[in-house]
Amino acid sequence: MSVADSTISSPAKSINVDLGERSYPIHIGSEQILQAGIGQYVQGKKVLIVSNETIAPLYLPAVLEQLQDKQVDQVILKDGEQYKTLDNLNLIFTQLIEKQHDRKTTLIALGGGVVGDMTGFAAASYQRGVPFIQIPTTLLAQVDSSVGGKTAVNHALGKNMIGAFYQPRAVIVDTDTLATLPEREFCAGMAEVIKYGLISDDAFFLWLEENVEALLNRDPQALAYAIERSCLNKAKVVSADETEQGVRAILNLGHTFGHAIETFQRYTGLLHGEAVAVGMAMAAQLSMLSGAFSQQDMDRTKALITSFSLPVAPPQAMQADDFMALMVRDKKVLDGQLRLVLLNGIGSAVVTADFRLQLLEETLDKACHR
Ligand code: NAD
Ligand code: GLY
Repeated sequence: MSVADSTISSPAKSINVDLGERSYPIHIGSEQILQAGIGQYVQGKKVLIVSNETIAPLYLPAVLEQLQDKQVDQVILKDGEQYKTLDNLNLIFTQLIEKQHDRKTTLIALGGGVVGDMTGFAAASYQRGVPFIQIPTTLLAQVDSSVGGKTAVNHALGKNMIGAFYQPRAVIVDTDTLATLPEREFCAGMAEVIKYGLISDDAFFLWLEENVEALLNRDPQALAYAIERSCLNKAKVVSADETEQGVRAILNLGHTFGHAIETFQRYTGLLHGEAVAVGMAMAAQLSMLSGAFSQQDMDRTKALITSFSLPVAPPQAMQADDFMALMVRDKKVLDGQLRLVLLNGIGSAVVTADFRLQLLEETLDKACHR
């Protein structure tokens, strides 16, 4: 499937994540909770739906309607990144054991990236692995976290430190769910959409620049296209490098800086997408100082990020030393060496340890003493 061939989408597209016997579809469109045929991805008699206290009242009844011939149990988690912990993961395992779910059970994640990452990790580890389905309900989860099989919980000392690569059986993106998503969460999701343009798709970046207003107005066609193109970009990278041995790391543009911010704020400050937006601006700045990224591209990057009311500077309380202390714990650190995703231009990213420490320090100082 070619990203470049993709045209303005009408509802209900299907993208294949090509991973051999672990391949799966991403269904994208309006009314997909009702129409995608969730039941076809459930093989046994039992299902455990994991959601949270905000999303369940909105969308759980529609999902339950699709599973009337199954024994369906539920875990409704507290809402928030700060609850993405081992303690809360245990609530899922307790329910699975109490309700006697065996290896034929299917887990369903109904929610944003927090619910999706936790449910995926529960599925990866319950009885050494049971199938799961992603029904992402935030823009961020629809374009990024539900696809690709990264599952995790946070540790107080570091973001997503405990987890597994574990692919879902299907991803069902019902774009109608975005109607209830708060504006701030919607914009946070746009950070990951912009990321695809920056790392590998300059034509998409240009399309985004030209469609800011339509996207902010949540024009259904523009949104469906942005989601589809993001998923195509992600599926392509994941198919090439499922477990991040190489190229997949480009999907982490801005994340080393961003995760440091989230950990510093104990997961209760900037939203994940907002922290990534700041991180992308910082990665672009370092790329520019290194001579690989032009001032013009820097200006375009900051302009697109801020057009979605996203931040480009870290929180006031954070100092360069705080970044350094947290960044050395990043999962891209290999053999003690920090690797970062840097930009060679809009649409071109590289994962490298080959940057001057002095320029990183300059980037951090400039960002923290604005
Ligand atoms: P989230 O899951 O916290 O959801 C954001 C907020 O929106 C929550 O309050 C949620 O209850 C609410 N919400 C969700 N859907 C809604 C809807 N349709 N209507 C109204 N409210 C709704 O946050 P997120 O931005 O979806 O995900 C962030 C998480 O995803 C982070 O933990 C991050 O680490 C993870 N992530 C994982 C990957 C991956 O590859 N696995 C990629 C990117 C991010
Ligand atoms: N969100 C980064 C990845 O999936 O690899």
